[in-house]
Parts: sequence; structure tokens; C-alpha cells
Amino acid sequence: MTERQQLIAGNWKMHHGGPSGCALASAIVLACGDLAGVDVVVAPPFTGLAAVAHEVEGSRVSVAAQNMHHEPKGAFTGEVSTQMLLDCGCTWVILGHSERRHVFGETNDFVQKKTKAAIAAGLRPIVCVGETLEEREAGKTLEVVSAQVGAVLADLGGRPGYGVVAYEPVWAIGTGKVAGPEQAQEVHAAIRKQLAGHSADLAENTRILYGGSVKPDNAGTLLGCHDIDGALVGGASLDAESFSKIVEVAPSPV
Ligand code: PGA
Repeated sequence: MTERQQLIAGNWKMHHGGPSGCALASAIVLACGDLAGVDVVVAPPFTGLAAVAHEVEGSRVSVAAQNMHHEPKGAFTGEVSTQMLLDCGCTWVILGHSERRHVFGETNDFVQKKTKAAIAAGLRPIVCVGETLEEREAGKTLEVVSAQVGAVLADLGGRPGYGVVAYEPVWAIGTGKVAGPEQAQEVHAAIRKQLAGHSADLAENTRILYGGSVKPDNAGTLLGCHDIDGALVGGASLDAESFSKIVEVAPSPV
């Protein structure tokens, strides 16, 4: 049991950026409407943000973007600013997802700039961290994760509880290989300890989500771990029924 309200976020990645996103969002609102005590967020592609935000208006579902640029405007072809996301009705933004880090080369420094800009603009960041399989096998998991968290520690610490950290081991994303609850809890506890090094307030109030092949059948065990405060769900968030089942098993705060 936790004193922090759990958060279940669905990362739709490059799916449902058009009319099908509205249908999925409305099915999620319907399926999750009565499930109180848990925060629910959906993250459609940029092209679906405004329509999905309109669709979920007045419900308990909030909208996140999957990325943003830290500069407010300028010659950044293909990029989107914080104000543009706010104009679309976003209240959250996923930053530093492993696909951004590993496919698009985002560094800790870049993720820090985005985190700072998001908080300043009034967008709540979900900062993703996690090791590759190679790093885990080399015994570097905590070192890698600690450098990723360390990059955004001061920014998250400026407003304890406003931002969220998502631990997503890269080897568990989209692979069906889920980290065992002990493996996940160990890293979550280390992140919490690092947050405590900044302030007790930050450690107590920051939600640390787990992500990587979370499904209705493994969510209960993961979400029951002491330092796991929710989930960032990819594949299983593309189906309203499986997503709502994950929301359903999330424990309510004590
Ligand atoms: P997955 O993705 O649930 O499909 O593994 C998680 C994520 O990338 O956020």
C-alpha cells in the first residue's frame, strides 16, 4: 500500500494519431470512468492530442504528449513547443523515453533541458529512465539510472511531486520480458533513495512508475511493490479493456 495516488499512463507511441484515437480515448473514459483513486493519463501522437483532449474533457482522464522541444519557438523543423502542447489541452508530457534516447539520440543533458522547460511552462513531466540489456549484464543498472535521474534531480526537486519518474528497463519494452517485482523494486528503491538525497519531500511525493511489458496479468504484482506508484503502459494501452484492467488493479492510497 502506498500513500501516493497511483498513476497509470498509456503511451500510444506511433498509433492512433487520427480518428481512431478519439474512439480509443472515449472507450478508455467509459471503461475507467468509475475507477476512483487512480490518476489516468493517455499519450497519443502529436496529431491526435487536441482531438483526444477534447474527447476526454470533463472526465478523469488527462492527456500527455510523448515529447517536446525545450525552446519556446524558432527554427526547429518538426518540433513542438510547450505552449503548443498546452494549446492542445495537454497537462503532461513524457520525456526521455528510451526510444527517444536510443533511436533519436537524446542525451541526459537534452532531457534535463526539456524537463526544466516543461515544469516552467506548467506541463507535468514523466521522465523516463532505464538501462539497456548490455548495461544490466555489465552490472551497471544503478549507475546508468542514477546518472539519468541525477540529470533532472534539481528540476524535479524545485517542485516536489509535480513531476514523475518512470523506470523502464529498455530490455523489457515491447519485448514481453517484464522485470520481476524484486528486480523492479530494487531499482525503484534506489531511485527513491536518490530523490531523498535531494529532499525528503521529493522522495515522499514523487511517483515512480514502472514500464516495460506491463499487462493486466502482471500489473497487480508490480503495482503492489512498495516503491512502485503506477505504470507507463505501451502495447496494453492500445486496448481500452486491457488498459482499464491495469487501472483497476492499481491500489488506492491508504
Ligand atoms: P510496452 O511499452 O508496455 O509495450 O513494453 C512501454 C513503454 O515503452 O512505455
